[in-house]
Amino acid sequence: MAHPSGRHFLQIPGPTNVPDRVLRAIDRPTIDHRGPEFAQLGKEVLGGLRKVFQTSGRVVIFPSSGTGAWEAALVNTLSPGDRVLMFETGHFASLWHAMAQRLDLRAELVPGDWRRGVDPALVERKLREDTQREIRAVCVVHNETSTAAMSRIPEIRAAIDRAGHPALFLVDTISSLASMDYRHDEWKVDVTVAGSQKGLMLPPGLSFNAISQKALDAARGAKLHRAYWDWQPMLQANESGFFPYTPATNLLYGLREALHMLDEEGLPAVFARHARHAEATRRAVRAWGLELNCADEREHSSSLTAIRLPEGHDADKLRAAILERFDMSLGQGLGKLKGKVFRIGHLGSFNDLMLAGTLSGVEMGLRIAGVPHRPGGVTAALEYLAQTAT
Ligand SMILES: Cc1ncc(COP(=O)(O)O)c(C=O)c1O
Repeated sequence: MAHPSGRHFLQIPGPTNVPDRVLRAIDRPTIDHRGPEFAQLGKEVLGGLRKVFQTSGRVVIFPSSGTGAWEAALVNTLSPGDRVLMFETGHFASLWHAMAQRLDLRAELVPGDWRRGVDPALVERKLREDTQREIRAVCVVHNETSTAAMSRIPEIRAAIDRAGHPALFLVDTISSLASMDYRHDEWKVDVTVAGSQKGLMLPPGLSFNAISQKALDAARGAKLHRAYWDWQPMLQANESGFFPYTPATNLLYGLREALHMLDEEGLPAVFARHARHAEATRRAVRAWGLELNCADEREHSSSLTAIRLPEGHDADKLRAAILERFDMSLGQGLGKLKGKVFRIGHLGSFNDLMLAGTLSGVEMGLRIAGVPHRPGGVTAALEYLAQTAT
């Protein structure tokens, strides 16, 4: 597109569209991060985050991408040579596993087909087989952003409990927090990993750990080297609203505004909005006669949809055509799914007409790129949106 006008459609599954309210909140002079005004900001955002993680425990904020929070979760709780159980749900689970290996953990990656979440029965079996209780942590990606399949965290928790296994439970919610129901305390998760650039509607640059008492206790004996990611100095400084090193002050202004927005809408309404947009998107995909990548009806993501292309068609060519003609960015297939799927992000600051525009761009793109499909996907989605509009 030589001269794009109007707004770019950023429909990748994160970073997401940053609402004007958040952009305006960020657009303020940076303050002294050791002064009294900052302490108020620090306390406010740390308190607000607890509500989003649904925890009464501690949450820490790192100035980093989500990958940093992955590392923090591992290095604060584990020791060299510890056994860790991971599941190959997709690209991000595989990357977290690769990180665990680089950190000298004995990390097992249970193979998967990149089309479904973690099987709770398999978790139970693996833990029962570990009669020596060597496994120190079970790590699960709640919403696999590469496949659009969700893992059923409460059922996995129940499986760990049935096995009577003491392993820590570490969960990545980078593309689900503040988009899909998630309960750190109720589901007895020990470390929840999250990032700013998806459901929290912020630019990239902040990451989070929500930490259980059991994880805090584990941290006391954990021997992996840690410096920047160490929870202890962070938790200590946070007591008074401060940080042990220079925080990303302007992103914290944005976070305060985003937390207000989530509070005004109410988390149940936020989750329902995401679920409704996801359902409308799936109706469009089925009407087009295309195949959803997620193969289990119980595990569809609410924050994105991954769509498989018919054999012999390249998803990246379709995405390139849509970007060129309609100025819309869609998510590419990652890792094993490169060229085979494209992903529509429908999370964060998003509404019915943005979804209508997104699906219209996809339907026109399918036609322009010569991908075999039936027309009528947009109509199917609009019908559902109109029927369920309140
Ligand atoms: C589920 C999941 N985990 C981890 C990451 C890595 O986060 P980051 O790219 O912010 O480091 C991503 C990024 O998209 C993700 O979607």
